[in-house]
Amino acid sequence: MRHLLGIAELSATELSCLLERTDQIAQGAIFSFAQPVALVFYEPSTRTEMSFVRACQMVGAPVLRLLPERASVLKGEGPDETVRTLGAIGARVLVMRTAEPLLPHRLSELGMAVVNAGDGCHEHPTQALADLVALRRTVGEVRGLKVLVVGDHLHSRVSRSTVALLSRQGAEVELAGPPDLLPEGFAEMLGARRCVDLDQALAEVDVVMALRIQQERMGQTVVADLAAYRRQWGITAERYFSLGHPPWLMHPGPANLGVEIDPELADASRSLIRIQVTCGTQVRAAVLSLIGEEVA
Ligand code: CP
Repeated sequence: MRHLLGIAELSATELSCLLERTDQIAQGAIFSFAQPVALVFYEPSTRTEMSFVRACQMVGAPVLRLLPERASVLKGEGPDETVRTLGAIGARVLVMRTAEPLLPHRLSELGMAVVNAGDGCHEHPTQALADLVALRRTVGEVRGLKVLVVGDHLHSRVSRSTVALLSRQGAEVELAGPPDLLPEGFAEMLGARRCVDLDQALAEVDVVMALRIQQERMGQTVVADLAAYRRQWGITAERYFSLGHPPWLMHPGPANLGVEIDPELADASRSLIRIQVTCGTQVRAAVLSLIGEEVA
């Protein structure tokens, strides 16, 4: 594997190698990639950036961490020039988060191996892989699993990547959300179905994943009344615990606790939220070690 740009570009062989390598890493195997990795996060991140730092430590890769608020970005330097500069410094892999869809794809033509850590509202492939691994490890077989994803799909790169990956792996995925945030045809584009009744779906699915309302991407506030959103679309404690057999619970984070999911659910007995994060670190170490075999 030379790049990880999106689920759309991930071949079946690459996926299978990644899942196997992730499991090996989880069991304590050590894979080395002692080449510098540049982390360029133009958008804020806690889980993805910190787990890439940890993943670099796990594979023995020195980290070049660019902080945009202190970098020559502020003097007008664009991403192409930044990447060429990082390459001249010695970076062999670029891990990038950006607001610009497809920027990692374009930068992958500059010669350095590229991992997409989230490009605008487009893709977030390592989150999708983390979600898949978390499900395989705790719930088991993904084929035939009924998964409901609720929330702001329009602005969510997680929805685009995770729903596409789970559908591809044979899960039966339903999407729910306000019409403004779940456009016509969106579910079908990802191999999923549109849910018509949230409470009925919740009673029937094996897994529910809540998505963050991405107010920062909305320009004008689409979700003006957060309390009303919570009542209609939130995974509230009341709604969740009233189910006879509550589904496994997921959220890619960071969550607006008390809006799309109630705070007491984050560490509920069937919550996978922390496991998603742990699996994300192992997936990222697997990605770097596999790319390392190509670029070494
Ligand atoms: N899920 C996710 O991408 O979280 P961060 O923005 O904290 O990296």
